[in-house]
Amino acid sequence: MSQGMLQDMKGCFNRLRTPFYYYDTALLAETLSAIKNETERRDGWHLHYAVKACATPKILQQIQRAGVGADCVSGGEIKACLENGFPANEIVFAGVGKADWEIELALKVGIQYFNVESIPELEVIAEIAGRMGKVADVSFRINPDVGAHTHAHITTGLAENKFGIAKEDMIRVIRISEQMPSVRFVGLHFHIGSQILQMDDFEALCHRINELQDRLEAEGIKVQNINVGGGLGIDYYAPDDHPVPDFKSYFDTYAKHLKLRSGQHLHFELGRAVVGQCGTLITRCLYVKQAATKQFVIVDAGMTDLIRPALYGSHHHIQNLSSSGSVLPYDVVGPICESSDVFAKDFLLPETHRGDLIALRSAGAYSEIMASRYNCRELPKAYTTEDLGIRD
Ligand code: LLP
Repeated sequence: MSQGMLQDMKGCFNRLRTPFYYYDTALLAETLSAIKNETERRDGWHLHYAVKACATPKILQQIQRAGVGADCVSGGEIKACLENGFPANEIVFAGVGKADWEIELALKVGIQYFNVESIPELEVIAEIAGRMGKVADVSFRINPDVGAHTHAHITTGLAENKFGIAKEDMIRVIRISEQMPSVRFVGLHFHIGSQILQMDDFEALCHRINELQDRLEAEGIKVQNINVGGGLGIDYYAPDDHPVPDFKSYFDTYAKHLKLRSGQHLHFELGRAVVGQCGTLITRCLYVKQAATKQFVIVDAGMTDLIRPALYGSHHHIQNLSSSGSVLPYDVVGPICESSDVFAKDFLLPETHRGDLIALRSAGAYSEIMASRYNCRELPKAYTTEDLGIRD
C-alpha cells in the first residue's frame, strides 16, 4: 500500500461513512511471508502474534492461516483467538494480573503455556490447576533489566518496571515450581519494550539471556523454550519507504547472538511489526478553521479512534487523498472535547478543504483495538481489501 494506491481507492472510500480503518491484506500477506522466510529456515523457531496489536477478526484469521500462533494477555484475547481459528495449543498467555476466570479458561481450553510474572500468580495457577486436575505448563517472565531506546511508556524490561520476576529470583522461582505437582516449568520469557529500531537493544537481551542460561546450566536446570517477546518497530515517518519491516536484521540478531541449547525452541511475540503498516485510518475533513496563529484541519476521527498521538505523542504520517494543491502547515485535530485530541501540529498538507479524505498511516497496530466510546461515539468500522472488492 502506498499513497498512490490509497488515492486510487478514493472513489471506493468516498462511498463509505468515515472514519474507518482500512486494512491492506496484500501487504499483510507480504509481511507474513517475509517473517516466514526468516523463521521457517531455522529449526525450532516459532512466532506467536501479539494479539493486543490488532484483533480484527479477518486480520486474526489471515495471520492464523499463515501458520502463526498467538500471544494473549487476557481471557478476551484467548476467546477471540479461538473464535478465529487458532488452535488452543498454539496460544501463550502473559500479563501481570491474570484473573482466576482467565486462568481457568486457559486451563480448560488447553493453551500451550502461561508466561508467569510473579510468585503469587504461580501459586494461584498451581492451586486452580490442582483443583481442576490439570498440570499447567509455565514459563517465567524474567525482567532482564535491559533498557530499550524507545518511548518511556513502552519500555518494559528495566528493573523499575512492573513486569516480570527479578533475574536474581529466577532460580528460586524455578525451584519453587518444581515442588508443585500441578505445575510444570517449560521455559523463560522476556520482553524489553516496543517500537524498537536499534538492533543493539535486542543484542543486549541476547547477552543477558546467555548469562542467565549459563547460571541455569550450572544448576542443572533444563529449559525447553526461550521466548524473547516482541518489540520490532516500524517506520512511522516514511511508511511507503518501508512497508515491510526489517525482519532480516531482527531475526539475524537473534541467530547471531543468542546461544540456544540443543533441542531448545525459540519463540517470538511480534505484534506491531506484523500489522502496523497494513492499517490506515481514513477520515474526512469537516472544517478548515483559521485561528489567530494557525490553521486547523478538523477531521471526523478523534483520539477515540486513534489514541496513540494523544497518549504517547506518537507520530503518524498524514496524507490528503483528495487534494494536490500547494502545501500549507496545519494542525490536524479531532472533534473530541479534549485539548489533547491532536493528531499532528504544523503538518504540511496540500491545501485542504471541507470533504477531503485524509489518511492517517501506519495505524494497523495499537490503533483500532485501542478505540473507545468516549463522547458516546461509535467505534470505528474496519474494512479489508476483500471487503471493498479490490484486487491487485
Ligand atoms: N510481548 C509482550 C509481553 C508485550 O508486552 C508486548 C507489547 C508484545 C509482546 C508485542 O510487542 P510489539 O512487537 O508489538 O512491539 N500501545 C503501545 C504499545 C504497547 C505494547 C505493549 N506490549 C503503542 O501504541 O505503541
